[in-house]
Amino acid sequence: MTDLAVRGDQSAGLWRERDAELISPAYSRYSDLVIDHALGAHLHTVDGRDVLDFGCGIGVTNLGHLHPAVVKAVHEQVDRLWHTSVTALSPPMVDAAAALVAVSPEGLDQVFLNNSGAEALESSIKLARRATGRTEIIAFTGGFHGRTYGALTLTASKARYREGMGPFLPGVHHVRYPHCFRYCAHRADEECPIARGDEIEHLFKTTVPPDTVAAIVVEPLQGEGGFVVPPATFLPRLREICNQRGILLVCDEVQSGFGRTGRFFCVEHTGTQPDIMCVAKAFGNGLPIAGLVATHAVMSHWHPGEHGTTYGGNAVACAAAIAVIDTMRRDRLADRAARLGARVLQRLRGWRDEFEEVGDVRGLGLMIGIELMRGGRPAADLVSSIQRRCVERDLLILTCGIDDNVIRMLPPLTIDEADLDRGVDILESCVREEVGR
Ligand SMILES: Cc1ncc(COP(=O)(O)O)c(C=O)c1O
Repeated sequence: MTDLAVRGDQSAGLWRERDAELISPAYSRYSDLVIDHALGAHLHTVDGRDVLDFGCGIGVTNLGHLHPAVVKAVHEQVDRLWHTSVTALSPPMVDAAAALVAVSPEGLDQVFLNNSGAEALESSIKLARRATGRTEIIAFTGGFHGRTYGALTLTASKARYREGMGPFLPGVHHVRYPHCFRYCAHRADEECPIARGDEIEHLFKTTVPPDTVAAIVVEPLQGEGGFVVPPATFLPRLREICNQRGILLVCDEVQSGFGRTGRFFCVEHTGTQPDIMCVAKAFGNGLPIAGLVATHAVMSHWHPGEHGTTYGGNAVACAAAIAVIDTMRRDRLADRAARLGARVLQRLRGWRDEFEEVGDVRGLGLMIGIELMRGGRPAADLVSSIQRRCVERDLLILTCGIDDNVIRMLPPLTIDEADLDRGVDILESCVREEVGR
């Protein structure tokens, strides 16, 4: 009997029991579905359910599960070469770097590959400090950059991620992200003071001399913090502040990259040029690969042996990454995400008039959030009930936000339009039932 047959014989309940016994309780799961296999936008459970995937393993399978081009590239590489690390050079590593450079903002032309988003952020802190000879880093509340110590120090989306785990990395300072729906009192036609950089300037005046700051680390569209789209002036203003003060701009495109927001990278929406860009998640469509792409001028501050990794640049993960980038360019998937996302957003924006709990609907491309409020307060319980109801109806959808009150949609960029509409229909009926209308 094959392994697969053995697995198919076990009920979902048994898997859940074994999971609870063997797997650390640290994992906070969005559902208790037990997935046997997956294809495109469909997750198939061990007990025969076909669930529409609007989560993509948290923004990873942007091409859908088992995309044939990636499967083929991985199969071919598996039979050829898996791993060299720094014992030798490997063509897939060079080709993956070339593919990444080809789609990165102009000037970002040298790559360091590693395995996860957190590692990419760790690498960016080290590189920024090394390149500037400065120590301090500015990040944003609501930001999520990973769970390892450096990345976790930057992360400020939930206090629970940090509770009991300090002390953290010295030299990291947080200012607010321009989440106008929640923080700002200015009129819609007035400039947002946070986006103008007032909080950073205040920090420079009161606590952190600007000539000690190595980097500003920012998500171009805040993910875990609530799918917050900042005013279009925000990133260009950060670029200006960095230019004036000799600070490096580090853009974390781990969740917003690879076509997700309707451009290959989210920084393209405002034409912002980072000094260092961090990528992960959809880079390998499910195989672990991540990295930094930076200018030669910045990257040249590292010399042989000053940074390293065993698995980073693994040949099989690189083969997947090359196929991901080739497929996204060939099939113009960023454009598709922009088109489908605009259609979904238009429909969801209508819900603001229909449901008083729908406070804000926002997003770019197929990175879409719906922030729910009740009586002027974040409605986390309502979001959680809607999410659970969706899963019961075979739609896996996620949540986010510093108050857990945002429904987040991350469908594959390749999803059939009929599936996309069906998913939004399911979500709409669950919202309607939960708000009692
Ligand atoms: C914007 C952002 N940066 C970094 C990370 C960390 O990535 P990883 O979980 O691969 O370490 C995430 C993960 O969700 C993320 O969304």
